[in-house]
Amino acid sequence: MKKYIVLALITVTVFFTSCEDNIKYKVDIEEASEVTFTDVKEIFTNNNTCISCHNTQSKDYYAGLDLSASVYENIVGVNSTQRTNEVLIKANSPEESYLYRKMTGENIDGTIMPPGGKLNQIQLDKIKSWIENGALNN
Ligand code: HEC
Repeated sequence: MKKYIVLALITVTVFFTSCEDNIKYKVDIEEASEVTFTDVKEIFTNNNTCISCHNTQSKDYYAGLDLSASVYENIVGVNSTQRTNEVLIKANSPEESYLYRKMTGENIDGTIMPPGGKLNQIQLDKIKSWIENGALNN
């Protein structure tokens, strides 16, 4: 009898654990598809991650890239100064978005951005998903 109770308990635990995983997975996907440009901008500005250097007022106004104001207009469909044949953000294509690649370090000139250390994977995934979903100004 005891054996059956133990078996039943294991079955129930496994069932609920797998359910939880599925629900969590679904939520992750839904959250990722709802990344807005407001979220992306926040990553650039939070703790001065990018804007400490990339703003017009800074003496370290690097690469002619302003990420502090009119950010959308400054990056989406705009050519890179470093690689004039590349676009900073190309809607639907993270691989062809030079600004995104500057943050992952794939096929870039100069240093990875921000120079102090790579963004975390969650932040990178958010930006990637925003680009994949059309890089909307939302
Ligand atoms: C400490 C200063 C500093 C910070 C912070 C910084 N950058 Fe840069 N950025 C630079 C410098 C210097 C260059 C030019 C040299 C290089 O690319 O290595 C540059 C170049 C770039 C370029 C190339 C621009 C072009 O048009 O080709 C991009 C894109 C870029 N940064 C994005 C970012 C992003 C996004 C962040 C934040 C996640 C960031 N940077 C944070 C200093 C900084």
